Parts: sequence; structure tokens; C-alpha cells
Amino acid sequence: MERALIVNILRSDESREYVTVCGWIKTRRDSRDFSFVEINDGSCLANLQCVVDAGSPAFAELGEAGTGSALEIRGDIVESPGKGQKWEMRAAEIKVFGLADPETFPLQKKRHSDEFLRAIAHLRARTNKYGAAFRVRSEAGFAIHDYFRARHFVWAHTPVITGSDCEGAGEMFRVTTLPPGEKEAAKDFFSRPASLTVSGQLEAEALALGLGRVYSFGPTFRAENSNTPRHAAEFWMVEPEMAFADINDLMELAEGLVKHVVSHTLKRCEPDIDLFDKYVEKGLKDNLNDILNDSFARISYADAVKILEPNSRHFAFPVGFGEDLQTEHERFLAETYFKKPVIVYDYPKEIKAFYMRANPDETTVAAMDVLVPRIGELIGGSQREERLDQLEAKIRSLGQDPKDYWWYLDLRRFGTVPHAGFGMGFERLIMMLTGISNIRDVIPFPRTPGNLDF
Ligand code: 4AD
Ligand code: MG
Repeated sequence: MERALIVNILRSDESREYVTVCGWIKTRRDSRDFSFVEINDGSCLANLQCVVDAGSPAFAELGEAGTGSALEIRGDIVESPGKGQKWEMRAAEIKVFGLADPETFPLQKKRHSDEFLRAIAHLRARTNKYGAAFRVRSEAGFAIHDYFRARHFVWAHTPVITGSDCEGAGEMFRVTTLPPGEKEAAKDFFSRPASLTVSGQLEAEALALGLGRVYSFGPTFRAENSNTPRHAAEFWMVEPEMAFADINDLMELAEGLVKHVVSHTLKRCEPDIDLFDKYVEKGLKDNLNDILNDSFARISYADAVKILEPNSRHFAFPVGFGEDLQTEHERFLAETYFKKPVIVYDYPKEIKAFYMRANPDETTVAAMDVLVPRIGELIGGSQREERLDQLEAKIRSLGQDPKDYWWYLDLRRFGTVPHAGFGMGFERLIMMLTGISNIRDVIPFPRTPGNLDF
């Protein structure tokens, strides 16, 4: 079908004769002499106003089509005498693809609650807010690829089905073809237990120790039963891994990545960001610009605890060296104390994963988390333990068998190098970019405990 996109029509400097536009009716107003039909095709936030002369053949073709109906309209693009838009279409021909019954079409009102729209996730991409969120999501994805590509990172595809539990947290979805009741793993598809991946890190490390710099960017799965606005059972993660790099290089990479994506999105999605600034999170745009114009705070875990301790009355969870930082602590640091993103590094080894590199103090590991206002943890990563004996001892100390990690340990056996990487939750990034406060509203079809309606 030959059609012009509304984004291109509205950006153009010239009037155009006889173009075809396809989209859905946002609103229709009928006056004595005209129908004003606002069409949106998803290519941008703005609608195209189409003017249909009452009594014209196009008017007859338009018929009863109202909000939600899908059409093709042909006509000339002319300067609009009305205010609010530069261009409008004078409709000459209309073809209705599909009507939407005004009695039953759910998106009649201008504004609906997030909860209502979540229950109609199959239709919410047609609203201003969700259309904008999913366009921002797309642009942020492109920005991530741009950032790494410009730095000679190889985009690596790590497996979705895995036999290992990277984070060791036991929050994995099992993958099986065994009939119900059959327990014997040897009879299963892979002849052993298999799960959906919680992280592509271990495989990314293997690839980085050959390709030098890689990143994976894909869906990850966690069966954590935490019904919070920041956790989804299926979410996308960006996981860069760099050989010949330490934790300082990693902090540089993380800060640069976040800034690049913010800058790209502000440039490419200005009308969408303006919408969020106006209706979702006042001050969003200023906050995003502040992220660009200031360096992230950097502080050790030990010093972070010293900041939190005198404020412990504000918190539900305990603070103190050795306690994991909870979202409330992370938000306090970023939102209240530093008022900007903060990188916390050198966490106690007990609260972090087995693969993180032991620091010379023997109590902390070379881990780093990037915490941002409103969200808390956006990025988690570390320098990796590249010393074979240390890593083996660590695995043993956790009561595990080094043989189960044979290939991961091979990477330390053959040409091991200092290396580092992190994981950034893509949905949390989109929450930061849009001001949307619930993760269910930044991924088109969210998966959370008890919810699999679409
Ligand atoms: O801190 P996490 O658990 O780190 C890892 O998985 C490492 N293996 C990553 C690496 O070093 N390559 O997760 C990384 C990020 C978190 O900072 C958070 O933003 C996001 O992934 N995340 C989630 N996002 C949405 N829903 C969940 N259930 C999430 N769990 C983690
Ligand atoms: Mg983490």
C-alpha cells in the first residue's frame, strides 16, 4: 500500500498534492459544513487533521466512522488556517478499513487510568502515552546499539535456554518437555534440567575473551515472586563485557551509556518526552538534561552506609555494613542525598555473586551498581574474578562443585585476563526516560506474578 507517514508530512516544509494517509481516528468533530477528523498512524505523537466537506463523496465514504475506526484518506496537504497545526489534509477520498463501535470500543475518553489500560494491553498502543512509551523504547534500543557499535563492541547473542544459574539466586523458570508426573531429568529434552536464562553474563564473558568487547541485549527471565513496580518476570537486559578492563573502565562505560541514551532520546523523541514531562512526571526533561550535564556521584559501599546510618529512622530495612542495599536505601542515596545518579562500588563479598573479583581487603568485591533517582538500581556489574585458584575456592566455599563450572573455569585456565561487565535493566532505563513509575507500563505485554493475560 502506498502511503505517507504522518511524521513525514508534519515535518515537511512543503505542501503536497494528493497523498494517502492511513491511521486510526483519534477524534471526530462534525460542524455544519465540515467534519474534522484527527488521524494518528503511530509514526509520531501528533495527529493529522483531515477536513472533510459535508456533502462531499468523501463525507459519504466516511459514514459513521468515529474514534478508533481505521481509514485510508487521500487528499492534498495544505497549510492549516486553524491553530495547533501547520498542515492539514483536505480529504478527497476515504476508505474505511474497519469501524470501531462507539458503544463497545474502550478508548473513548481522553484519559484512562494505567490500571484500566493494563487490562487492555492489546489496545493501549493506540493511546498517546503508550504510543510515546513504545516509541521511546525503540529509540533507546537503537541508542544502545549505536553506543556500543561506535566503541567496537560486538553484539553477541547469548542463549535463552540455559543449564546454569548465573546469579545463583534460584529464581529460574524451568524448561521441560517431560509429561506431568515424570521427574527423571535424564528423560527430559536436554537429558538434564534446563531453565530460561536470568542473565547472559557467563556466556558473554566467554565471547569477550575472544572478541575483546561484546554486549548482549535480549530478554531475561526471573521467577522472583516480588510484586513491585520495578520487577518483571520477563525483562530485557543489556550486558556489555570487556576484556582487559577493570572496574573503573566499567564505571566509565556505564555512565557514558546512560548519558548517550538520554541525549539520543531527548533529540529523537522530543514531543514524546514533552508529553511525559507534562502529564506523567513534572520536571522530567530538566532532570534528564541534568543527567547529561553533571557527572555521576561515585562512592564506596562503606561510605554509602555511613550516609545511610544516621537516617535509618526513614527506612523499613536495616542499614549497616554487610546489609544489602534495599530500594529505599538506593533511592535515598540517589534521590535525596546526591540528587543525581550515583555509582556505589566495593560491596561486601557476602551479598554479591560468586564471580565478582575479590578486593585486596578480602572483605569486599569489585562490584558496582548505578543507582538513579525514582528507581534505585538501574545497573549492576563487576570486575570478574579472573584468577583460577581464587574462583575455584569461592565456588567450593559456596558448597558447589567446580566441575559444574568447567567451561567457565576454562576461561581462567587458558589465557585469562582482567575483565569486567554489567547488566542494565532495559525497562528500568525506559522508566527513567519517561517518568513512568510502573514497569508494567514500559513493556508492551508485561509478565508479572499471576498475570499472563495476553
Ligand atoms: O543486578 P543483576 O541481577 O545483575 C546480573 O544479572 C548480572 N549477571 C549482570 C551482569 O553483570 N552482566 O541485574 C542487572 C539489572 C539490574 O540492575 C536491574 O536493572 C535489572 O537488571 N533487573 C530487573 N529488571 C526488571 N525486573 C527484574 N526482575 C529485574 N531484575 C534485575
Ligand atoms: Mg543487582
